[in-house]
Amino acid sequence: MSTRIIPVDAFDFVVFGGTGDLARRKLLPALYHRMQDGQIPEGSRIIAASRDELDSPAYRSLVLGAIESSVPDDVRDTELLERFLACCHHVTVDAGSELGWAALADLLAGREDRVRAFYLAVAPRFFGPICERVGQSRLVTPKSRVVIEKPMGRDLESSRLVNDAVGAVFSESQVFRIDHYLGKETVQNLMALRFANALFEPLWGAAHIDHVQITVAETLGVGGRGSYYETAGALRDMVQNHLLQLLCLVAMEPPESYTADSVRDEKLKVLKALRPITIENAAQLTVRGQYMGLSTARDRIPAYTEEAGVARSRTETFVAIKAEVANWRWAGVPFYLRTGKRLPSRVSEIVVAFRPIPHNIFPAGSGAVQANKLVLRLQPDEGVKQWVMIKDPGPGGMRLRHVPLDMSFAEAFGIRNPDAYERLLMDVVRGNQTLFMRRDEVEAAWRWIDPILEAWENEGTAPNAYTAGTWGPTRSVALIERDGRTWHEETV
Ligand code: BG6
Repeated sequence: MSTRIIPVDAFDFVVFGGTGDLARRKLLPALYHRMQDGQIPEGSRIIAASRDELDSPAYRSLVLGAIESSVPDDVRDTELLERFLACCHHVTVDAGSELGWAALADLLAGREDRVRAFYLAVAPRFFGPICERVGQSRLVTPKSRVVIEKPMGRDLESSRLVNDAVGAVFSESQVFRIDHYLGKETVQNLMALRFANALFEPLWGAAHIDHVQITVAETLGVGGRGSYYETAGALRDMVQNHLLQLLCLVAMEPPESYTADSVRDEKLKVLKALRPITIENAAQLTVRGQYMGLSTARDRIPAYTEEAGVARSRTETFVAIKAEVANWRWAGVPFYLRTGKRLPSRVSEIVVAFRPIPHNIFPAGSGAVQANKLVLRLQPDEGVKQWVMIKDPGPGGMRLRHVPLDMSFAEAFGIRNPDAYERLLMDVVRGNQTLFMRRDEVEAAWRWIDPILEAWENEGTAPNAYTAGTWGPTRSVALIERDGRTWHEETV
């Protein structure tokens, strides 16, 4: 298996916040890997714009540090690294004043015919001011695009303001709203599985699917991001975007073609079909949790409130939701969503649980016949498992066993699993918006999330406590078990 490179012309990639955490941890390593695979043509430039007083040589030292700490030694190559560093430039720019804008314009001048991407790796309060100055400095060319990351607002209203501010300078076809989950290999594979195989589609709906589970579990706590997290919580940080996007890809109708608007039109319909969760039903359909600390003989895991540096907080670090897509295909099929920090393992997966067989022909003693499951593992070990019943090999009568037909992508294809950002950044350069969220999608997601936030506010209670290293509050188990189902746990 080989990676296929889609060639692009030389481009300028301007990163506001180019010295920050996202740039160092994700964007620079992703671009480095793309250069390694020969996808960044000669003459392309990465131009970091930040308030730091750095010249380009000093910035290159920062880039070197970022690459050294995120790219393993054995895939680092000195000649490549030098070429990469030579593409990197820095301009000191302040979003709130005139400082640096003329210098940035000078650097960009004369290359108006190439793709120019502006990546806003900064806090959302700077999106509007930066776009405005980019506009005033006449930096927007026909081939320009802007990339923004969540949080895009805290609710529907504030997200509209963010979108308006960006939309005042860039047209919708130039706005790339990143949700890095859409760049994950398995997530794209979900579309391949569903729409490049005839096998699943006839079974894909309420007649054959019992329920769907989407779990995104993290072992880490909020760490140094406490001040951001305190304004967000798991519902805004993970569900409004990543989990709902995954739900859309599972539930959407086949798009007419694999093009940005066809795919996004279908996802939008799913978001609009989500049954509202309101003050009346939120207590039955949602669970909020917050992790408590844990002391062991060797270690002490801090509680959320200690990490966030707040004495009391109602911010949820865990959410479980029983959602429903109220349309013909999915009526009555629960979508159980669950995400949290400080859970026992780092695992993200989508489980499509099929209905049980209608009648068991096997004698008692053959073993329980369990329902089929399709498990799409996003991380770690990206891959797909189709759980089926088989006969246990060997003599000794009919003994049935539930086993996975297992396809691990790393093993099957023997390639490095690219980080989601690699794919997405190059999609920006290519101008392909298929894996990016359109404004109406983001707003439809908020329209469903807002009443949940209101219902919680109205309840006026604190989230349920759970101990770090457990699967969230016991109410999360009850949420699914009272329907006679259980959260999927890998046993093989
Ligand atoms: C981010 C959230 O969008 O996704 C973080 O803000 C979270 O809180 C992260 O940790 C998880 O991403 P991944 O790719 O590590 O699953």
